Amino acid sequence: MSAQESLETEHGPRPGTTLEPAAGTAEIDINAPGVTRFDLVREGARRDGIEIVVYEPRVEPGSRLERRTERSVALLFALAGLAGAAFIVAYIWWPWEYPGTELNAFHLQRFYTPVLGVTLGLALFLLGAAIITWVKKLLPHEVAIEQRHDGPSAEEDQRITAATLTNVVDESGIMRRPLLKGAIALGALPLAVIAAAPIIGGLIRDPHRPLPEMEAAGLDLSPQDHTGWHPALNDGNPVRLVHENGTPIRPADVAVAGQVTVFPGIPRGTTNYYADSPALLIHLRQEHADELRGQLYELNEGSMYGNYVAYSKICTHAGCPPSLYEQQTNMLLCPCHQSQFEILNNARPVFGPATRSLAMLPLALDDEGYFVAGTVNDAGELVGSDFKVPVGPSYWER
Ligand code: FES
Repeated sequence: MSAQESLETEHGPRPGTTLEPAAGTAEIDINAPGVTRFDLVREGARRDGIEIVVYEPRVEPGSRLERRTERSVALLFALAGLAGAAFIVAYIWWPWEYPGTELNAFHLQRFYTPVLGVTLGLALFLLGAAIITWVKKLLPHEVAIEQRHDGPSAEEDQRITAATLTNVVDESGIMRRPLLKGAIALGALPLAVIAAAPIIGGLIRDPHRPLPEMEAAGLDLSPQDHTGWHPALNDGNPVRLVHENGTPIRPADVAVAGQVTVFPGIPRGTTNYYADSPALLIHLRQEHADELRGQLYELNEGSMYGNYVAYSKICTHAGCPPSLYEQQTNMLLCPCHQSQFEILNNARPVFGPATRSLAMLPLALDDEGYFVAGTVNDAGELVGSDFKVPVGPSYWER
């Protein structure tokens, strides 16, 4: 092995070594007649201190092997396109809503996320496999030794670079392989649609448009301005707190120092149609309830029922459910980024990235003794009420 060889690898100089300027290709006049594009490529490489040592096709152009490889690559692109199209179909049409009261029944919704993950993963895997197969089996085999240099490029060099790039496109075979051209389009189009879907979706579906239920009630409230606890969603009556199976809740159902997740007792109230509505109903010990009552924010006045309090289960940082209830310290922990909320002080954040308190849901009892979201006014009437502040993370129009 020569001293020069010991300094080089197949991909260029070994790290930390300096090579002498590349030699072996004589300088050519690029304006001379008969200069081919590859001569320009080679000259460009030479001027950049790169010596092209090996440059040869991997397969015989036009051979059966080339056609077979081309068909394999085309098939991979086409399958990537099919997987991408399956993702789009599932994204739009696969049932996504939690079944609510039919929790134990078989429901296609359970497979929504896995189907999205599998189809998208498959599409990306097949696309990658197609590109790798193309590069490894169809592109020319090249070994070059490159020197590093600084400074701007001369005009001639720019021309050479343009020729190099054009040559790369030509050598990729895309222009003379219509089958691959079509397969790439077929494979890449669904993936492009997937990438664009979040942007286009926001343009198609107006996130501020009131829910049909709100429009029916004659209210022009965007979904961000109310939750499933709004009395308009229950013919103007206070909405009951229910378990995930739709059962209403009485005070005796929650033990002292216990807690339960509650949902609005309206049609689809326990599904993710009203994903911003779940709350945590907590039965505080007497002394803890007194402590909280003594320091309620003005906004939260009258929102407790006896020793019971309910806080939104949507974290004000990024929307995760802060439902890890620490009885001893009276803290609510959010599992995503460890925000901690002080239950006895209006669920004020005391640790972590959340900066706003969790919204408190006003509690009262209806005439059958079940919890409802509402307050009793000065005239002694029960009035339904939503959360008094928007739940979850801040948004730009708040
Ligand atoms: S979402 Fe709760 S701390 Fe980040």
